[in-house]
Amino acid sequence: MRKRLVAGNWKMNKTPKEALELVALLKDKVNTADTDVVFCVPFVDLIPVSEALEGTNIAFGAQNLYFEDKGAFTGEVSAPMLSEIGCKYVVIGHSERRAYFGETDESVNKKLIQAVKYGIVPIVCVGEELKTREENVTIEHVRSQVKRALVGVSAEDAAKTVFAYEPIWAIGTGLSATSEQAQEVCGAIRTVLTEIYGKATADSIRILYGGSVSGKNSEELFAMPDIDGGLVGGSSLKEDFATIVNCK
Ligand code: 13P
Repeated sequence: MRKRLVAGNWKMNKTPKEALELVALLKDKVNTADTDVVFCVPFVDLIPVSEALEGTNIAFGAQNLYFEDKGAFTGEVSAPMLSEIGCKYVVIGHSERRAYFGETDESVNKKLIQAVKYGIVPIVCVGEELKTREENVTIEHVRSQVKRALVGVSAEDAAKTVFAYEPIWAIGTGLSATSEQAQEVCGAIRTVLTEIYGKATADSIRILYGGSVSGKNSEELFAMPDIDGGLVGGSSLKEDFATIVNCK
């Protein structure tokens, strides 16, 4: 039985001071009994947020890491750095990083491997542009992204990852995929995982949906058989996040 996971991706929002205000607003409102909850915050917010979350069951995570341990990589942040401060999750391969910062399937693969090596759960994002959906090749596209992310990854390590299906046309638009559309692709991701690793491993891996998740649509989305929670952008910055976490 997969435990639901709801992750807030704050993106490039909230200064450290604002981050503390948001944690104060949300921390007593989210019910962590049946749901794993994580705030994926900007790097400079990690330490203050981690301190503010002490004594709660809410985890904190980063939105990126670099795949080398250390060295001359100006501006990057390593897995050992994140792991030492107690970072439990990291978002990898978000479509915004793929579109604006040159993230590729190859770098996603290296980052996934590096995160798992340091005990950080990678939330690996995949998803199609509107054009790809209109050309009816969404499933092929997403299958390829998943396979390339997992090159050289053992079943044991794959079981430590989370996938997030985020159709690019649904991100920040207020236009979520329907629960049927989201289920179709999340189910296809589970099928690829089954082909690579077998049913037991595939059944243990959590697959999230992301793209305009709100308190209004979360219950219907999360009720789908292959959707194990959400990766939430805009709605993670307000009280609506608690409604999403606490939905049936
Ligand atoms: P929105 O929830 O704002 O559509 O963002 C989704 C997302 O990109 C989460 O990673």
